[in-house]
Order: sequence, then structure tokens, then C-alpha cells
Amino acid sequence: MSQVWLLALLFISSLVTSTSAISTSHVAPAPYRERALFGAPKIKVEIRNALPEMQEVKLHCQSADDDLGVHILPFNGTFSWRFRVNFWVTTRFHCQFTWRGASATYDIYKAKRDSNWRCPTYCYWEVHDDGVYGYTELEHANDLVFPWPNPQNSNDTKKGYKYT
Ligand SMILES: *[C@@H]1O[C@H](CO)[C@@H](O)[C@H](O)[C@H]1NC(C)=O
Ligand SMILES: *[C@@H]1O[C@H](CO)[C@@H](O)[C@H](O)[C@H]1NC(C)=O
Repeated sequence: MSQVWLLALLFISSLVTSTSAISTSHVAPAPYRERALFGAPKIKVEIRNALPEMQEVKLHCQSADDDLGVHILPFNGTFSWRFRVNFWVTTRFHCQFTWRGASATYDIYKAKRDSNWRCPTYCYWEVHDDGVYGYTELEHANDLVFPWPNPQNSNDTKKGYKYT
């Protein structure tokens, strides 16, 4: 096979993002399709409910191509999915989290932010009572925190929340 042909094939196959759901406690339904033949490595994103006192959190993740559906995570439950970053490195999944009547939407995977050093193959998140925590892959260090927008969602006065 000529190198030109191989390059063309590589280009075409990497135009599309491939997403497939895997899950431990929650199985995301079809249609998660395997579209890319080869190209970027598969990335796994996993979100754990680390809320206290056996509380549930509702989440709804989607990208431009895929809606992963609404899932209720029980205490310590996880939701995860796999996909490949597209050719333009614009792949982005945002998730809406709902807990105690308040909702917030955050970028849980952003190829430009995450695909190089932050989490090249495994991106781990935890939902806590003061926000959603992101961890780096190699060091497992918490480097991102998206605080809950609604003060009533947190009793952590040290972080400056006020209760009205
Ligand atoms: C949460 O689940 C993990 C396995 O997914 C387990 O190792 C851990 O002990 C559990 N933690 C709690 C607090 O139940
Ligand atoms: C937070 O504070 C409110 C009001 O005092 C209380 O009703 C609620 O149970 C507390 N939540 C937690 C998780 O401690």
C-alpha cells in the first residue's frame, strides 16, 4: 500500500469521533457506535458519586455527536464511557449534574485541555458536596474543581458560601 493511500485512509478514519459506552454500575444504551477504524487511542472518562450520606446525583452527559442519556448515580456509583478524540481535537463532552434541586453543566472532557498531559487515556471525576473534582491520570492529583453554583448545595462555610 502506498503511503499516500495510507495517509488518506488515516485522515478519513480520524474525521469521526467514536464513542462507546462502558459502565460499571450504569450501562448507557445504544447508539454508541464504533466509527473510527484507527487513529487516536480510546479514552475512558469515569465519574463517581462521592457525595456524603447516601445521596444520589443525576447526570446527563453529551457531546456534539452523542447523548449519553440521563443517569442517576447511587452513593459511590460510577458512570463511564469511551470514545476517540476527533481529527481536529475538538471533541468535548459536557455533563449536567443535578443534586439537591440545583443543576450545573461543566466541561468534563475537552480534548484541547485533556488529551495531552492531563488525562491522555483515563479521565476521572468525583462529585462532592462542594463541587465536581477532576483528577489527572498519572499523578491522580485533583487539579480541577467546579464548585456548585447554588450555595444551598454546600454546607462548607470555609469556602465562603452563604446560606440564605
Ligand atoms: C466505592 O466503590 C469502590 C469500588 O468501585 C470501593 O473500592 C470503595 O471501597 C467504595 N467506597 C465506599 C465508601 O463504599
Ligand atoms: C446543610 O445545612 C442545611 C441547613 O442547616 C441542613 O438542612 C442540611 O441537612 C445540611 N446538609 C448537609 C449535607 O449537612
